[in-house]
Amino acid sequence: KRPSDLKIEGDSYSTDNWTNTTDQILSHVGRRLYLDENHPLAITRKLIESQFPFPVFGNYSEKNPVVTTAQNFDVLGFPADHPGRSRTDTYYVNDKTVLRTHTSAHQQAYFQQINRNEQSRPEEVGYTVIADVYRRDAIDRSHYPVFHQMEGAMLWKRPVNDPLESSAETAANVKADLAKIPSHNVPVEDPNPTIHPQRNPLQAEHHSEEEVEAIAAHLKRSLERMVIKIFTEASKAAAASSGGDLEPEPLKVRWVEAYFPFTSPSWELEVFWQGDWLEILGCGVIKQDLLINSDVPHRIGWAFGLGIERIAMLLFNIPDIRLFWSRDERFLSQFRAGEITRFEPFSKHPACYKDVAFWLPPSAVTGGSSAAGGGVPFHENDVMEIVRGIGGDLVEDVSLIDEFTHPRTQRKSMCYRINYRSLERTLTNEEANYMHDKVRQQLVDDFGVELR
Ligand code: PHE
Repeated sequence: KRPSDLKIEGDSYSTDNWTNTTDQILSHVGRRLYLDENHPLAITRKLIESQFPFPVFGNYSEKNPVVTTAQNFDVLGFPADHPGRSRTDTYYVNDKTVLRTHTSAHQQAYFQQINRNEQSRPEEVGYTVIADVYRRDAIDRSHYPVFHQMEGAMLWKRPVNDPLESSAETAANVKADLAKIPSHNVPVEDPNPTIHPQRNPLQAEHHSEEEVEAIAAHLKRSLERMVIKIFTEASKAAAASSGGDLEPEPLKVRWVEAYFPFTSPSWELEVFWQGDWLEILGCGVIKQDLLINSDVPHRIGWAFGLGIERIAMLLFNIPDIRLFWSRDERFLSQFRAGEITRFEPFSKHPACYKDVAFWLPPSAVTGGSSAAGGGVPFHENDVMEIVRGIGGDLVEDVSLIDEFTHPRTQRKSMCYRINYRSLERTLTNEEANYMHDKVRQQLVDDFGVELR
């Protein structure tokens, strides 16, 4: 059933029993929506890049999504049992090769590039990179198995051979750069100390508190300015389209402690937007071991990463993430390079929902990813993948609406509701039934479920 190899961006990869990348997923490779200058993803990219300008930052993109498990996980310090490595969460091309799950997979290569260009472009000590990333996940209006991330980093040279010895000098250099970034007057909540010994530790064998404080201050001001820029544009656009009813909302942001395997200390930046705190990005002080392994042992710095679709949905008022992939002129014609316009839905076609209920086979193991006790593993993301393979972009949402275990037989019953809806036309009931029958059959074929 599985092909002997997969062709991706002109290269051929042999498959094995790790392979779970489907043709449906591969059909998205190479669209490079972020380069279509009138596309909302490209407009959002430009807006962010404008905050990280030449010559300090090079602004890059990475077209080939195929990376090694080393690039995506090992080099970044992901432990062997990290859930992100699981076949239920990640698209494997084969045992050693995945579709990148985040742009951080390219960190090492960009750090190495900074080192290589040290003589020819000494001022370029930072970068941004945008790329398509791939994750097996739920199906709903804000999740799509392919989305875009943008990542950035900035490094400082540490003057002498013993970097800790020279940390006061490094801190002074970072502070001098901080002084060049204009401050802003948006309220910031930042209740935690920069360094917390348990929750957000200093890399004490490599860094002094003083330099990490300076880097954190530079990181925070840079990223605050970026999100303030984005959300000021968003609230102007929202206010303009409301015909003056809506005052541009006063912005506020807050810093939350976070954890990433490749930064410490780490944070998330949240923005208060239309009544909710939204998580916008993750960031932190880069793990020195990663820099040591990336040919830049005598540099220190920060990195951040964010999802582009979430931001673009807010900026342009785009209600469904599938729309970004639309080739419909009624969608595409609404956006113009450099402009934040509010999307006017061209129509909302009727939804057609259908339920599928089934008993799992007695041997099925739910929850975890690996089959403890020899049962057949059953993971919700595998249901999503079946639905995606059959319905593609005609499915808006899949949700578990009922689940119970029979008190006597201990067999588990599940019921999923699949919402079929095209963004572009009205689906007939026959079309929805046709897809739904195939989903039912494939659940039987792949998992041995008993339909109810
Ligand atoms: N790669 C992280 C993610 O996908 C985001 C991140 C990038 C965090 C860089 C810190 C530094 O969630």
